[in-house]
Amino acid sequence: MPGNARGGELLERRIPRSNESLPAVGLGTWQVFDVAGDTAGLGQARDTLRTFADGGGRVVDSSPMYGSSESVTGQLAGELGVGPRLWVATKVWTTGREAGIQQMEESMRRLRVERLDLMQVHNLVDVATHLATLRDWKAAGRVSHVGVTHYHAGAHADLERAISRNDVEFLQVNFSLAEPEAERRLLKVAADRGVAVLVNRPFAEGAMFRRVQGRPVPDWAEKAGCASWAQFFLKWILAQPAVTCVIPGTRNPRHVADNLGAAAGPLPDAALRARMTSHFRSL
Ligand SMILES: NC(=O)c1ccc[n+]([C@@H]2O[C@H](COP(=O)([O-])OP(=O)(O)OC[C@H]3O[C@@H](n4cnc5c(N)ncnc54)[C@H](OP(=O)(O)O)[C@@H]3O)[C@@H](O)[C@H]2O)c1
Repeated sequence: MPGNARGGELLERRIPRSNESLPAVGLGTWQVFDVAGDTAGLGQARDTLRTFADGGGRVVDSSPMYGSSESVTGQLAGELGVGPRLWVATKVWTTGREAGIQQMEESMRRLRVERLDLMQVHNLVDVATHLATLRDWKAAGRVSHVGVTHYHAGAHADLERAISRNDVEFLQVNFSLAEPEAERRLLKVAADRGVAVLVNRPFAEGAMFRRVQGRPVPDWAEKAGCASWAQFFLKWILAQPAVTCVIPGTRNPRHVADNLGAAAGPLPDAALRARMTSHFRSL
């Protein structure tokens, strides 16, 4: 298993507005934790969550859009007794104030939490309505942090407007060697405004592994601490200081350990990161 991380050794990043720190590698649950009723899949998800928590991972990201992922996360966290260690983020993905409230309450029941660490407006759907509700929820202590998400560069200008005009602590956005656009403006705007950043699609939904298939990680990257392609991709992301936490999706325990390994050891400096960029583009 490449570059295994063990609890206590992970790189942490501070949430600018709350002074809380988070391990810089988390776990996404889209598709991979949508396994209610699938015994084999549920077993894999349980082993993955156990490996993640044992390795010091905390941030788990879900959404009511992800089928049974919220329920599965809540169920497995309960069975494994890791719930109190996790930092749980989910989303609201509907239109209208009442529908939003109902959905967020249902998410808390499914995730088995009384307070959410982060509630995000998924893909900016009815963003003004939900942010108004979430202001009240935050004041009432039902959520600790509020954010907005999207997964596509075509929405980066809208995300920029959303974090500039509203009082949100988190931005979640796609960012990777294959989808580097957020680095043009958006990440700087987030950093300047003290908005924490969760990175989704760090492997472009797995497409980046197909691009490097059959090719070894270059020696110079291995020597710099990238024990696998996953660590090459994740360390490139984490070298951007605006990034608070990257949330790769997996239900493979070996992959989750590999991903946590990216938060251990050195990060590339600017020269090495530029070399990683040109190498990836050359493939
Ligand atoms: N609009 C939004 O808010 C939005 C949109 C997209 C995603 N997200 C969030 O971001 C998370 C991550 O994005 P994503 O799941 O779309 O894509 P991703 O993390 O870029 O890629 C996931 C794929 O990578 C594979 N993988 C993971 N770790 C690996 C490793 N170490 N080695 C080899 N393969 C590995 C997984 O397969 P295995 O299962 O085989 O490991 C899976 O097929 C989501 O799960 C979700 O929580 C949010």
